[in-house]
Amino acid sequence: MKRFFLHPVTAFLIIAGVSCKMETSNFDIRKEFFNIYKGIAVETKAITHTQVTRDQVTFTMYRNHQEPKEAIIKDNNLALLEGSKGHVVFITHGWTDHGDAEWVLEMKDSFLSTYPDIVVIAVDWREPARQVYSISSINTYDIGNIIGDTVGKLVDEHRLDIGQFILVGHSLGGQISGFAGKHLQKAGKKLQRIVALDPAGPLFDVRPVDKRLNPTDAEVVEVIHTDTGSFGFKDPCGTIDFYPNGGDFQAGCTRIDVFDASSIVDPIVCDHERSYYYFIDAVQHPKDYLVAMECTEWNFLRKVCNESNTVSMGDLTTTQTGTFYLTTNKEKPYGKKVLETADGLLDKMDKTKEAITDKASELGSSVKAGISKMGKSLSSFNFFGKSSKEE
Ligand SMILES: *[C@@H]1O[C@H](CO)[C@@H](O)[C@H](O)[C@H]1NC(C)=O
Repeated sequence: MKRFFLHPVTAFLIIAGVSCKMETSNFDIRKEFFNIYKGIAVETKAITHTQVTRDQVTFTMYRNHQEPKEAIIKDNNLALLEGSKGHVVFITHGWTDHGDAEWVLEMKDSFLSTYPDIVVIAVDWREPARQVYSISSINTYDIGNIIGDTVGKLVDEHRLDIGQFILVGHSLGGQISGFAGKHLQKAGKKLQRIVALDPAGPLFDVRPVDKRLNPTDAEVVEVIHTDTGSFGFKDPCGTIDFYPNGGDFQAGCTRIDVFDASSIVDPIVCDHERSYYYFIDAVQHPKDYLVAMECTEWNFLRKVCNESNTVSMGDLTTTQTGTFYLTTNKEKPYGKKVLETADGLLDKMDKTKEAITDKASELGSSVKAGISKMGKSLSSFNFFGKSSKEE
């Protein structure tokens, strides 16, 4: 639905992608945001892509019982993880975010309280993540390889089993998890599970399958789509794909007016962020909670899903495949615990689409709408955030 707005933006980002420097400041990114917002393309520069190195990534390990309970993991202390019996979960953030973000810590706490033997590793790649979007999206490949190398070493040199690892990633972090899986497969190791939380769509949706998250990156690739029209990846890209509330407009997220800059702070990031809030909730309630049914978008909106084929979103044991739909509550607790069809959703979506289309024609340019819409994606990443009042 919102897809309509993405294409001009994607085209723009490909042009912007030739600017490849690592020292982009917040100011540059914000300026880029406003330039895009106003429809002014930035000047292009020569490509000098710098490879991301291991020292630009921090792995912070958390666990319940063994000492130390918290440590920075480097290549020379991987032995700390020897003897871990439970899952080892990597959590990877997205664009302009970082590994100490509140949601990362909340997810870490959810894992530790639900699974006593678990080891959680928060991946912080803040500097390569704080570039213009196109550069950060290129950096996902290197970050994936770095995570893959670490997992490989833990398996080869420290007797962990490849089946213990679960890679969870939000947005660009979802794409990173895919690259880690691809990298490991080159060394003959296939991850058991990837959980991609609204994996990034822009730039990735135009790539060939092997250059983005895909169902072969792990035995099970679980994808939660919450912002398919803007920042998330629209099409199924896992072995099992969940589309809560249809995958685009999340319950409880107020709609933004794309032509009113003052309205685009919190509401903008809401759909895209819901994916990790749903998953935090799901980790605490893995079964019979966020119950999803096999469906297609078309059928979900028309309330004819296969109610005899169900699975809980966020179930870390499922090997079911297909596309699944569900509705959620507007706020935590998100799980409805029962199946529910999309009452009134179709109507709501049509109305929203109409409203946006009306606005666009008022301004007489759908391209402008697309560019403004990109404000949603760009500002999902804190720099625009709550402090920016200057424009
Ligand atoms: C519904 O799901 C059940 C259980 O997986 C399956 O046996 C059945 O074929 C499905 N029905 C349709 C119409 O897809």
